[in-house]
Amino acid sequence: MHWIDRSRSLPWNRSLSTRSVLVVMKGISSAMAITATGMLALNSNAEPVHYPSKCKLPLVKDKPLVNTIHLKDLMKCAQDLEDIAYATTARNRVHGSEGHKGTVQYLKDTIEGLGDYYKVELQEFTTEVTLASANEFSAGGVAFDTDSFEFGNNGTWTDLPLVNVANLGCEPEDVPDSVAGNVALIGRGDCTFVQKIENAGAKGAVAAMIYNNLDAGVAAGTLGGVNDLIPLGGLTRADGLALAERIEAGEMITSSGTYWAYVTQATSHNVIATSKYGDPDNVLFLGAHSDSVDKGPGINDNGSGSCGILTVAKALAKYRTNAQVKFAWWTAEEEGLLGAEHFVNTSTAEDLSKIRLYLNFDMIASPNYYLGIYDGDGSRYNLSGPPGSDVAEYLFEDFFAARNLTTFGAEFNGRSDYGPFLDAGVPCSGLDTGADGIKTEEEAAIYGGIAGETYDQNYHSAADNVTNLALFPFEINAKAIAHVVATYARSWEGFPARLPPNSTAVARRHLHPRSSGVPKRHSCGVNELLEY
Ligand SMILES: *[C@@H]1O[C@H](CO)[C@@H](O)[C@H](O)[C@H]1NC(C)=O
Ligand SMILES: *[C@@H]1O[C@H](CO)[C@@H](O)[C@H](O)[C@H]1NC(C)=O
Ligand SMILES: *[C@@H]1O[C@H](CO)[C@@H](O)[C@H](O)[C@H]1NC(C)=O
Ligand SMILES: *[C@@H]1O[C@H](CO)[C@@H](O)[C@H](O)[C@H]1NC(C)=O
Ligand SMILES: *[C@@H]1O[C@H](CO)[C@@H](O)[C@H](O)[C@H]1NC(C)=O
Ligand SMILES: *[C@@H]1O[C@H](CO)[C@@H](O)[C@H](O)[C@H]1NC(C)=O
Ligand SMILES: *[C@@H]1O[C@H](CO)[C@@H](O)[C@H](O)[C@H]1NC(C)=O
Repeated sequence: MHWIDRSRSLPWNRSLSTRSVLVVMKGISSAMAITATGMLALNSNAEPVHYPSKCKLPLVKDKPLVNTIHLKDLMKCAQDLEDIAYATTARNRVHGSEGHKGTVQYLKDTIEGLGDYYKVELQEFTTEVTLASANEFSAGGVAFDTDSFEFGNNGTWTDLPLVNVANLGCEPEDVPDSVAGNVALIGRGDCTFVQKIENAGAKGAVAAMIYNNLDAGVAAGTLGGVNDLIPLGGLTRADGLALAERIEAGEMITSSGTYWAYVTQATSHNVIATSKYGDPDNVLFLGAHSDSVDKGPGINDNGSGSCGILTVAKALAKYRTNAQVKFAWWTAEEEGLLGAEHFVNTSTAEDLSKIRLYLNFDMIASPNYYLGIYDGDGSRYNLSGPPGSDVAEYLFEDFFAARNLTTFGAEFNGRSDYGPFLDAGVPCSGLDTGADGIKTEEEAAIYGGIAGETYDQNYHSAADNVTNLALFPFEINAKAIAHVVATYARSWEGFPARLPPNSTAVARRHLHPRSSGVPKRHSCGVNELLEY
């Protein structure tokens, strides 16, 4: 799960307008070609063509596929990824690292080990990455927990007074002139981190400390790219408020800090496995990210998603499918969903129009979990996706409901690799057990765990390892993936056709209409097709 700049009021911080324009242009330029080759035929729900298959495999079925998903295989995969991370000195799997290279090799070898069922491609991608960082902060002679921000600048200072910034530092006049030559202390919220430290820097602050607005650990996040802003560090809400109160009461508190990060260009790969059989014009696409942040091995985030889809990919290789099924393990998700965005950027509008559904799995075994399904119909958060995002959500809901398990809509905010697919108008769905959000009382009553704490206390930390995976959601979520794969790989009946590409560049923050004529539940017409 990618960092979010929680200071923003909107959940998605990419330049949506630019991307929308791009998609519109792509759509218009290729719309005629697509019409000429029979767009409607591509996406029709007519009897599937049977593609030649040299192996006489049985057609995929729900129950047998779901029943081949076992926790021990998921845990073996998670352990393999941890071993890959821990075999390196950095003990992580960040984009461009040895640990990530090992992960890519592992995924490729595992898929190729299944024989000729899948074609495996490595898509190269280069971008900047933070490979290591060191942070220290003390005030009044006491050391505090702190963290750096992605793309934060290096800085060291000694014995400089901390100065309170009024409100949340979003307006230039919130910053007192007395920050000049000193360190600004600012609360998180209401505007971007960049805006806050720009305002502080403009008044001559040497550095800035931002404290959290939730009891969710030290404030941290991304500045979005290389910049020339003053260095900054994060503090917890409690520490920040306590310091601010003392300063407010007239105490002079001096601080010292060291923030240092090594940013470099790094190259890594998306791993893309495509079934050689099944209809290439009606593709079911699953993705998870293969990289971690630099601070830890990333075993829930997103080893769990990676292992979930890898285990399903292995199980599927024993069956024939009517749809072509594609799996991708994206790189550089933690740098801003870049691997997936690169894939979407380099795909033609025609290829994207053949993806009936993209499913994303990022963090499906959070220790303080809830069972979340992307809110594709917008019924919980009023952020919906293209038609079909709702239908896939209901199919997942039905899987859990059949097991008497309660699920909640997960905010459909584009904060993982499905973001670029949504931007391109592809229907999306997926599962989520929570990252740095806070578990509610209601959820704790249902799932156990601790209300008022984050879903994954180890989010983006060194402790995100195998020891801290929650086993129950890991297994049940992987089985839910198998259920949805078995259903759509068999038939798209009841699933809406793709909209023409030029009508799909609708900003996804807007509520998309419900798929016309699709009732909310048991809508997929697929249950009748399942032969147990
Ligand atoms: C911080 O310092 C390291 C090591 O000197 C350097 O490689 C890196 O580029 C610096 N970071 C920035 C953002 O300038
Ligand atoms: C897991 O995969 C999801 C989906 O791509 C991604 O958002 C998340 O960041 C990944 N987490 C880790 C640890 O790789
Ligand atoms: C994708 O394309 C957009 C628009 O041209 C561009 O801004 C963005 O940087 C590209 N992303 C990647 C990962 O190449
Ligand atoms: C679900 O709950 C219902 C009613 O409480 C019960 O009849 C049914 O057996 C339960 N099903 C499962 C799979 O636990
Ligand atoms: C996993 O993380 C926990 C918590 O940080 C740590 O105690 C444990 O040693 C780690 N496991 C390994 C194999 O290093
Ligand atoms: C784009 O979609 C609109 C309807 O939303 C339609 O009127 C128009 O003809 C389409 N343009 C192209 C180039 O297909
Ligand atoms: C949902 O979003 C739409 C479009 O952004 C907005 O017009 C509408 O008021 C929102 N509804 C609710 C209940 O927030």
